[in-house]
Amino acid sequence: MMIGIEKISFYIPEQYLDLAVLADRKNIDRAKFSKGIGQEKIAIPAHDEDIVTMAAEAAHPIIESCDYESIDTILFATETAIDQSKSAGIYVHRLLGLPSQCRNVELKQACYGATAALQMACGYVARKPNKKVLIIASDISRYDIDTPGEATQGAGAVAMLISTNPKIMEINSASGCYSEDIMDFWRPNYRKTPFVDGKYSALRYLHSLAHAWKDYQNNGGRDFFDFTQFCYHLPFTRMAEKAHKHLCSLNQTPLNMDQILPGMMYNRQIGNCYNASLYLSLISTLENYEGDLSDKAIGMFSYGSGAVAEFFAGVVQKGYKNHLYIKRHQGLIKNRKSLGYDEYLACWNTPEIQDGSEYVIEKNRNGKYRLSGLKDHKRQYESVA
Ligand code: COA
Repeated sequence: MMIGIEKISFYIPEQYLDLAVLADRKNIDRAKFSKGIGQEKIAIPAHDEDIVTMAAEAAHPIIESCDYESIDTILFATETAIDQSKSAGIYVHRLLGLPSQCRNVELKQACYGATAALQMACGYVARKPNKKVLIIASDISRYDIDTPGEATQGAGAVAMLISTNPKIMEINSASGCYSEDIMDFWRPNYRKTPFVDGKYSALRYLHSLAHAWKDYQNNGGRDFFDFTQFCYHLPFTRMAEKAHKHLCSLNQTPLNMDQILPGMMYNRQIGNCYNASLYLSLISTLENYEGDLSDKAIGMFSYGSGAVAEFFAGVVQKGYKNHLYIKRHQGLIKNRKSLGYDEYLACWNTPEIQDGSEYVIEKNRNGKYRLSGLKDHKRQYESVA
């Protein structure tokens, strides 16, 4: 029985900050961002967007075009949760009109949660082959102003339908994991932004990659030379270059950038979206690789600070191009508004209503789903016709 990704779709906010604007404002050489960290733009959410609205937007095209009655589980992966108790997926469940027989749960392990969701979904579908699981990875990456992390912000959501009819990519069962208790990135409950030791994190990422790869090999994984493309978790796209160089050297072969460049194209324009980043890179690979990836293997490396890492693989299916949302995705990236520095700051400073008073958020964008305000400590969501 084949199990894997039947559909995959992303959503990003309608506005961005060009890192050239940030560089000029901070008197930093623009090449530091474009070359040194490999980012051009970062997606900036409006005040009426959050992980719920982005998730619903990402999943909407999938729900519109599938027998959604067979979806009986939503796994929502995020590290920017809006509630300590209630799963963000329940709001999405209502906004999308999914059947009440569908279960919902939220998963967290920094940027790794979506990969845990994928592995769980594959296992679940093996047990119930006529059911489908909707995975949503949705995050807003926000660092303090005037810190090195500021240029590596971003936001977005990826939705994936996992089933026994993997029209996009079959997920192989072999995988390799590595976990260790480290403090490279974390966000205590009382903080809006995380603490991050970026350089230490990048080193542990490479360390974890080597261990996860070794475990993958021990578990009967594919040979390095079986892979056509590789996708990496991308806190910034330069990380893929460092990671792939490391994996190539472990396999005594020179770095071949062609194996990762298609998977960096969208992320370069969007920035970090934590759990969604690796799967955004997968979409970027599928939609930007020049040629046919049918029957080709893609290596996937997931890293979540703190830290858990996993290397796994998938095989792209014949006819996959017919099931992608290329036009929609490229339109989302192209038709965005560029923000000035002060507009960006105004968006960064989201209102923090903590006393239960009523707060109404004006509509000033085109999305189908929005956070219309807060009342009695409850978030108010609406679908726009
Ligand atoms: N032209 C080209 N490259 C330049 C440059 C210029 N003018 N100026 C600097 N650079 C390069 C540096 O040489 C460095 O390259 P290297 O990584 O090959 O050494 C790179 O740009 C970054 O610059 P540096 O000054 O070393 O780092 P920084 O203090 O700006 O921090 C990060 C960069 C990525 C560590 C920081 O943005 C961060 O912590 N981001 C958050 C990362 C994260 O989220 N991690 C956790 C999840 S995985």
